[in-house]
Amino acid sequence: MKRSLDPYGAIDRQRQPHGYVEHLEARGRTPSQTRLRRRFLRFAQLRPGQRVLEVGSGTGIVSRDAAARLGPRGQVIGVDPSRVMTLAARRLARSGGFGSRVVHTVGDGARLGFTANSFDRVFAVTVLLHVANSAAILSEMVRVVRPGGIVAVQDQDFGSLTLDHPDRRLTARIMDGVVACMYPDPFSGRAIFGRLVRLGLRRVRLAVDVFQDTTLEPYTHAMLRRRAENAVRLGLASPAAAGRWLTDVERLAASGQFAFTLNYYAARGVKP
Ligand SMILES: C[S@@+](CC[C@H](N)C(=O)[O-])C[C@H]1O[C@@H](n2cnc3c(N)ncnc32)[C@H](O)[C@@H]1O
Repeated sequence: MKRSLDPYGAIDRQRQPHGYVEHLEARGRTPSQTRLRRRFLRFAQLRPGQRVLEVGSGTGIVSRDAAARLGPRGQVIGVDPSRVMTLAARRLARSGGFGSRVVHTVGDGARLGFTANSFDRVFAVTVLLHVANSAAILSEMVRVVRPGGIVAVQDQDFGSLTLDHPDRRLTARIMDGVVACMYPDPFSGRAIFGRLVRLGLRRVRLAVDVFQDTTLEPYTHAMLRRRAENAVRLGLASPAAAGRWLTDVERLAASGQFAFTLNYYAARGVKP
């Protein structure tokens, strides 16, 4: 059986779960992610006054932006299996002054505790790559959206990651080797469109966006550091090679030459 190195499959069981709250918020604050989020919510066709569900809402950074689009009569409900994430999401929504317009609850996306046809929009962002049962989650999303409502999903696809580094072979060994062992579904991004079509949704559309970082943001830095550590743990690189690899990344950043990109695939479909 594949050993899980993916913290997002079980955040509350990690040694320092609160670190992932800060990691997700740091990712969400980057200019590139802020733009991705804005475009995705527009793509999901969120409108004032709607009732919206986010599955796998994490710290609620997407929910809060969604609520801002829905206005005073709209509401976003976020569901996430992690208690640590849910408590952080509630605190952040409260301090953002969202009141009852953003509600966060603990729950599993594969067993949503809502009646059928009860939301105008249901979406999930960077969740499916972390789960082995995405079919169950997607069919629950379709069940709870109303006829004529929209299901929208966005995921990275680690097959689309590029990092300019002088040692391309080692970079491939570390980046591709680790994700193959780490995520239940590292190539979920490209599969989303087909999955929504197979669920019987109508007017399914695909939109591809790119996360890019040319400054080695703290989020990207932490991700690359973890990749190097996991490459050593998995026997893909020696500690010396992984250390050198990371130092080269940091050197590139210090001289203004860091370039990292990762595609985000979004698909939306209408429930018949
Ligand atoms: C990378 S985070 C994304 C959070 C948020 N959507 C965002 O974009 O900032 C992935 C989230 O999926 C949640 N998750 C993992 N398994 C899940 C499941 N079975 N159902 C719903 N959410 C799940 C994790 O707890 C985590 O908060």
